[in-house]
Amino acid sequence: MTVRDLLVAGTDELSRAGVPSPRVDAEWLLAHALGVTRTEMYADGDGTGPEQEQVFRELVARRAKREPLAYVLGEWGFRRLTLTVDPRVLVPRPETEMLVERCLELLAGLDEPHVLDVGVGSGAIALAINDEHKGARVVATESSPDALAVAVANVERTGLDVELVYGELFAGLEGPFDLVVSNPPYVAPEEIGDLAPEVAEHEPRAALIESGQTAAIAGQALSRLAPGGALALEVADGKAQQVAELLRGLGYEEVTIGEDLGGRERVVDGRAPR
Ligand SMILES: C[S@@+](CC[C@H](N)C(=O)[O-])C[C@H]1O[C@@H](n2cnc3c(N)ncnc32)[C@H](O)[C@@H]1O
Repeated sequence: MTVRDLLVAGTDELSRAGVPSPRVDAEWLLAHALGVTRTEMYADGDGTGPEQEQVFRELVARRAKREPLAYVLGEWGFRRLTLTVDPRVLVPRPETEMLVERCLELLAGLDEPHVLDVGVGSGAIALAINDEHKGARVVATESSPDALAVAVANVERTGLDVELVYGELFAGLEGPFDLVVSNPPYVAPEEIGDLAPEVAEHEPRAALIESGQTAAIAGQALSRLAPGGALALEVADGKAQQVAELLRGLGYEEVTIGEDLGGRERVVDGRAPR
């Protein structure tokens, strides 16, 4: 079959399964099956073999069961990095790229800042900060051994310098840190059914369901931040004002809310008193 025929067939199957972006996903999956980029796939023209077609059909079948595209591909882009991802970790999100952007702003002017990422998952935040601020000394914690194994793989894959610590929240780390960052679980248990099947049925519950982590991190970070050090948190859509109030109530200063590209308030940060 030609590339075009395979794309039409794959797009139809994904469309019938309710996948929100069937054509783009089919392109990603076919390029993956052929071992080329999406651009090369079109430049290559017609030449697909039966083995590649079989691989493509299997990938499409997985995606049609609403497995996240990132898990089917086995890797996902985050800022300048390509990270290994699988069902042990949350798929890194575009709004988390904005959180990293804000962290880099908060670290501006510091040559060798100490940074802590609580709940490292795939390693996305910690690795991107180390990648984009070469002086940053980054340590990250994670309470899921499965997720931590993926973060270890991504430290090796990227060759970046992030120390990983297994444990709850701060895992005994005392700081002082110039920045504590976290994208904690923030889905209320009763809201899980409202989420897309990709999220509700495939991503790890420990990465999704909130059980007081935001408040615990905000409270415990204060004694671990250097004077004037920053806390930056990703928050659920619609929760930014509430989290900003929490931070002010705890004594954080310069509390700021950041919006994602769609204008939704998704990042809250503040500084420990100087
Ligand atoms: C929403 S995911 C974020 C993962 C990654 N930082 C990212 O932004 O893509 C939250 C992560 O925090 C971890 N986690 C949840 N509760 C935790 C706790 N009490 N202590 C440490 N890590 C925790 C989860 O296992 C999960 O990997």
